[in-house]
Amino acid sequence: MQHSSLLILDFGSQVTKLIARRVREHGVYCEIWPYNNCSPEDLQKFNPEGIILSGGPCSVTDEGSPRAPDFVFDLGLPILGICYGQQTMMAQLGGVVEAGHHCEYGRADIEITKNTALFGTTWTEGSTPTVWMSHGDRVTNIPDGFDIVATSKGAPCAIIANEDKKFYGIQFHPEVMHTQNGSEIIRNFVRDICGCSGDWTMASYKDEAIQAIRDKVGAEKVICGLSGGVDSSVAAVLIHEAIGDQLTCIYVDTGMMRKGESDQVVGLFRDHYNIPLIHEDASDLFLGKLASVDDPEKKRKIIGGTFIDVFDDCAKRIGGADWLAQGTLYPDVIESVSFDGGPSVTIKSHHNVGGLPEKMDLKILEPLRELFKDEVRDLGRALGLHDDFVARHPFPGPGLAVRCPGEITRDKLDILREADAVYLDAIREEGLYNEIWQAFAVLLPVRTVGVMGDGRTYDYACALRAVTSVDGMTADFYPFEMDFLSRVATRIINEVKGINRVTYDITSKPPGTIEWE
Ligand code: XMP
Repeated sequence: MQHSSLLILDFGSQVTKLIARRVREHGVYCEIWPYNNCSPEDLQKFNPEGIILSGGPCSVTDEGSPRAPDFVFDLGLPILGICYGQQTMMAQLGGVVEAGHHCEYGRADIEITKNTALFGTTWTEGSTPTVWMSHGDRVTNIPDGFDIVATSKGAPCAIIANEDKKFYGIQFHPEVMHTQNGSEIIRNFVRDICGCSGDWTMASYKDEAIQAIRDKVGAEKVICGLSGGVDSSVAAVLIHEAIGDQLTCIYVDTGMMRKGESDQVVGLFRDHYNIPLIHEDASDLFLGKLASVDDPEKKRKIIGGTFIDVFDDCAKRIGGADWLAQGTLYPDVIESVSFDGGPSVTIKSHHNVGGLPEKMDLKILEPLRELFKDEVRDLGRALGLHDDFVARHPFPGPGLAVRCPGEITRDKLDILREADAVYLDAIREEGLYNEIWQAFAVLLPVRTVGVMGDGRTYDYACALRAVTSVDGMTADFYPFEMDFLSRVATRIINEVKGINRVTYDITSKPPGTIEWE
């Protein structure tokens, strides 16, 4: 696919992905590559119209700290260095970066001292926008050809520019929301300075992706596991548009789905889209294997393994397949190539359909691997999927199992399903659903004493969780009004038999995770 494109070289910042999202919001395709994995040949093949150097956790004053490949400064391409990216550009082009100054974190005011093409009409000389700083080192001397175009108290070279070469350096983070007009500055760089055409839209991507799937798959057969989540659903509809009934979807009901979920998924895909679909009720098998298991990792492993067996059986029944479709997204692709190759700790074993391709000797089809979640939602809309479906909150592979700490039983799951449905219904009624990244109920393995009417109750307690997030990697708990929480608690206790106490989880991630297990 030929799009005008931009390259982001990653120096390990926590927010590099946000740069990519901002660039794509302006209709420009971009990729993130580790700073040390960019050969002249690969770069020539990718053919970007500009390069952004990301921030990072290191200090350029430390020996052996990362550097951009020198050749990128000789390509005649515009370059924007952000934070560490600015500092390494300065260190490599003959400027001076010093460590040991006061660190500057959080909001700061800068003063624009000179107009530049990077500012366009967004900022003009004399304006004082508020920006988001996060740095320990700072540039104190700039090479010939550069001008200081903005300063701040903590950073004399808050923004620098070499208009001839179209090299720009920014000490703060224009990609984060807290920087006033930050997204516009990125737009000015990618669209006006690099000249990218802004031809990256999901409507055009849809047709290209369909063609690419046809070319790849030919006349072979594809299977796709549907979970009810947005990613696998969009992947399935896209693949079906491309190859029709060469696709079969498999929906495994583990017994740990939300209320009404199975009917909704099967109804949409089999009845509405006419996609060949196997609906396998394997709830007895799953719940049997999970009986008396209360360790979260054991539960996840059992669910993952059982899922693979059931899926494998279903696939055999339709005479096998050549390809397995997966809803892998771009953040998964980037995360699997860590910028320094360092190991990462396993917090939770994520269960999708890992293990299946090897077991079944399948080729992998990942039609969403270039997309961010919000782009997948746009693609879903371009494919005609209803907004109710496309804008759904994420739902984890192991389903309600990770929302039912301790031992899982059918009774507990039934109680949880009801409480979850009441909670989500109240959130929708309040018009808050789309403001929240994910909301759900958790059934606690605790029974507490209560009083209802004139009688004593001894029932389960449940916890409500709602978080805001950009990508699920970090999250803040949602600050509901007390009045809303009180109304939901009353509804759950009145409408759900088996629960007599409701709590609200106010833990952010980190230190918590979004799911309870
Ligand atoms: P945690 O709990 O790790 O969750 O903060 C982050 C996001 O990932 C979802 N999640 C999963 N998704 N398989 C999935 O497909 C899994 O095993 C899994 N575990 C957690 C979770 O719902 C949240 O959106």
